[in-house]
Amino acid sequence: MGKGLHYLVTGGAGFIGSNFVRLLYQSGENVSVRVLDKLTYSGNLANLKEFETRAGYEFIKGDICDEGVVRKAMDGVNVVVNFAAEVSVDRSIDDPQSFLKTDIVGVYTLLQQARQLPALKRFIQISTDEVYGHILEGSFHEASELKPRNPYAASKLGGERLAYSFFETYGVPAVITRASNNYGPYAYPEKVIPLFITNLADGGTVPVFGAGRQVRDWLYVEDHCRAIRLLVDRGVNGDVYNVGGSQECENIELTHKLLALMGKDERSIKFVQDRPGHDMRYSLDSSKLQRLGWAPQQDLSSGLKKTVDWYLQHEDWWRPLKNKLDPRYSKGFWGEKGGK
Ligand SMILES: NC(=O)c1ccc[n+]([C@@H]2O[C@H](COP(=O)([O-])OP(=O)(O)OC[C@H]3O[C@@H](n4cnc5c(N)ncnc54)[C@H](O)[C@@H]3O)[C@@H](O)[C@H]2O)c1
Repeated sequence: MGKGLHYLVTGGAGFIGSNFVRLLYQSGENVSVRVLDKLTYSGNLANLKEFETRAGYEFIKGDICDEGVVRKAMDGVNVVVNFAAEVSVDRSIDDPQSFLKTDIVGVYTLLQQARQLPALKRFIQISTDEVYGHILEGSFHEASELKPRNPYAASKLGGERLAYSFFETYGVPAVITRASNNYGPYAYPEKVIPLFITNLADGGTVPVFGAGRQVRDWLYVEDHCRAIRLLVDRGVNGDVYNVGGSQECENIELTHKLLALMGKDERSIKFVQDRPGHDMRYSLDSSKLQRLGWAPQQDLSSGLKKTVDWYLQHEDWWRPLKNKLDPRYSKGFWGEKGGK
């Protein structure tokens, strides 16, 4: 392989990973990109179709827990960005085991191989703000206490702390990001924003957990991807960086914004049973990353408009996924009654 950055993007067929591959190719940089993805329910080759003919692009179907596959996938790369994970909080409450496997053992398998790569410049472990737990007032900074409150968040914390330990113990050049809730094109339609857009597009209702008073800090996916790209160059090994959108919004307010964009009113809302142990509020202080020159560029209102437009123009993308979606997502994952 020639000069330049040679990426292994694990989980690159998913929502954020495929947006990151897009950002790399759009930047015009001299890059090669190898994607390793198991293609679970949320992994989708259609997300990567436009890159199939690009020079230096390669796709490997495989599991980050599989040592042989990982060895092959890492051959010749100098940057690893690990997006591969089991991601859904609701699924992790239902069935935690696969989360422990991919989000902890999978990261360990990648790190073990990374130790063997002397040319590795960077190993970015994509973590989440959920490792902090929730915060009712103020914002989390990178040294805040870590109190994950569901099996997904606890597994992600295990994975990112392993990455840190491999930096301290073996010198793996690991950098960890903790991002807030992402939204934008190519998000699997079980996630709240695409679920609501596609339900409304079909003339259906939108299931709001509890009274919808939980607060999330929304980050447009391209802003997240730009942060990761910056950290490939400028992150400090062993360090953690919060990546927050600075766009806090109660779920009920988000719902009203989407209803307005879709030309609907509150008759389309259905209040449903709340998630057990539902985190009330996330809020991130991202000043450490901002000191490196990053700032979120997308505000929530215009980002939602772009996202709604994208879904309305890409029904061919989401319809087959929506047809296979567990109906619990549309009815209310934890049951139909509830609401305060
Ligand atoms: N979506 C968010 O709001 C958000 C916020 C903060 C952090 N994150 C983190 O970002 C990363 C990507 O999230 P996403 O929303 O794009 O999820 P996603 O579910 O869309 O993508 C995950 C990808 O990982 C692949 N995958 C799963 N298990 C695998 C395995 N064992 N081996 C190889 N590939 C496997 C899937 O096939 C899929 O393509 C995750 O690590 C997640 O924890 C997500």
